[in-house]
Amino acid sequence: MTEPAPTKVDMEKIVSLSRRRGFIFPSSEIYGGLSSCWDYGPLGVELKRNVKEAWWRAMVQERDDVVGLDTSIIMHPQTWVASGHIKSFSDPLVECKNCHLRWRADEVSGNKCPSCGGELTEPRQFNLMFKTFMGPVEEEANVVYLRPETAQGIFVNFQNVLNTTRKKLPFGIAQIGKSFRNEITTGNFIFRSREFEQMESEFFVKPGTDEQWFHYWLEERLNWYLKLGIKRENLRLRQHTKAELAHYARDCYDIEYQFPMGWAELEGIANRGDFDLVQHAKYSGKSLDYFDEETKEHITPYIIEPSAGVDRSVLAFLCDAYDEEPDKDEIRVVLRLHPRLAPVKVAVLPLSRRENLVKVATEIYAELRRCWTVSYDDAQSIGRRYRRQDETGTPFCVTVDFQSLEDEQVTIRERDSMNQIRVPIAALRDTLAAKLEGEDLFVLPPDGKIWKEGKDG
Ligand code: GAP
Repeated sequence: MTEPAPTKVDMEKIVSLSRRRGFIFPSSEIYGGLSSCWDYGPLGVELKRNVKEAWWRAMVQERDDVVGLDTSIIMHPQTWVASGHIKSFSDPLVECKNCHLRWRADEVSGNKCPSCGGELTEPRQFNLMFKTFMGPVEEEANVVYLRPETAQGIFVNFQNVLNTTRKKLPFGIAQIGKSFRNEITTGNFIFRSREFEQMESEFFVKPGTDEQWFHYWLEERLNWYLKLGIKRENLRLRQHTKAELAHYARDCYDIEYQFPMGWAELEGIANRGDFDLVQHAKYSGKSLDYFDEETKEHITPYIIEPSAGVDRSVLAFLCDAYDEEPDKDEIRVVLRLHPRLAPVKVAVLPLSRRENLVKVATEIYAELRRCWTVSYDDAQSIGRRYRRQDETGTPFCVTVDFQSLEDEQVTIRERDSMNQIRVPIAALRDTLAAKLEGEDLFVLPPDGKIWKEGKDG
């Protein structure tokens, strides 16, 4: 992490909003919480699912050259010998001789404890993998690990996927799932935790074409964040120095985001060469090569790996979307989330709880929720309800008022501009569908008169 970021949002605001509105809670909170573990609340789980869904669509479903996979978290222990994790997946750890707090040696300067100023021990390597036992007997022979990355499940299934899909190079295998790392230091909310989710794609290519594919994926991945609304000035690419490169990597760039605490890694894109397939072939004794029909040769593909964190992406999307603006005598807090990511797409708000209004509003609610995640809110003033929806990023509110009973029209109010238009109920679903797709269109009713523009209040 470098340079403090001059962004207007600070992490406390994000943590407080997340807690207050049910995005993210500390894990096991009634017991005092568990360090660096987090629970996603009702809105957080929707946001997180939408992030994963957007990644899966872009990385698997909209491509002919990538297939999906879902592998187990606990793998054969030899996996981690072959992958190099047993030997190399460690961080240098130092301990304070006075207060016994432990720190990552590369995150403290000098040999004084950042907490009490006590003297620190010499660094020793600390393996980050979580160990447990398979079966009832806790002995060395039964040791297994919780995976520290999802990638290895893909490598060990390379032949299975090749045989069952008959894919030709270049092609990729993608997976989303939980990973676990016994990080020495955690923090910055969900930025670094011990249990987190990854979205990884392993793209297998012919050696010699790896450079070109590496650059292709750098651009694709950067564009993914941009298309989902992250501001360009908050993203940058940073190439790893030779000293930083992981043991398997020939080259690597981080996509960094300007988080409130500074620029930090959001996603890594690595050229892993043939390291993984060669290692697993060696340790398993199984062939993991590919028969190139053009050259009639057996080759070991190179791998380009875009590897993103789900939780870090959620944090980046929250930070980037957070906005405050003056609103009369108050401050309007608004999450300007991309509609695809917004936890709730539409809120239906009857102006009052009068029976005839409720009837129309609940019918609209029932119809819209067949298409999207929709909420229904009839508590407090309409202004307050709009603000509640703004704060959780709902792109559109539909207000049913007394006039609706006469003209069969309702008001759509937009989160970002606060503009309001009136549309016939019959055209509401199609209008919202177009708006949620980002089209600035309104579906016209037969008489064409639907416009009633204006701002809140
Ligand atoms: N397979 C390659 C790999 O795992 P990595 O750079 O160690 O590479 C990839 O991790 C991504 O996973 C990171 O860019 C980050 O988004 C996420 N990640 C890694 N460690 C994390 C942690 N402790 N907490 C949250 N996210 C983490």
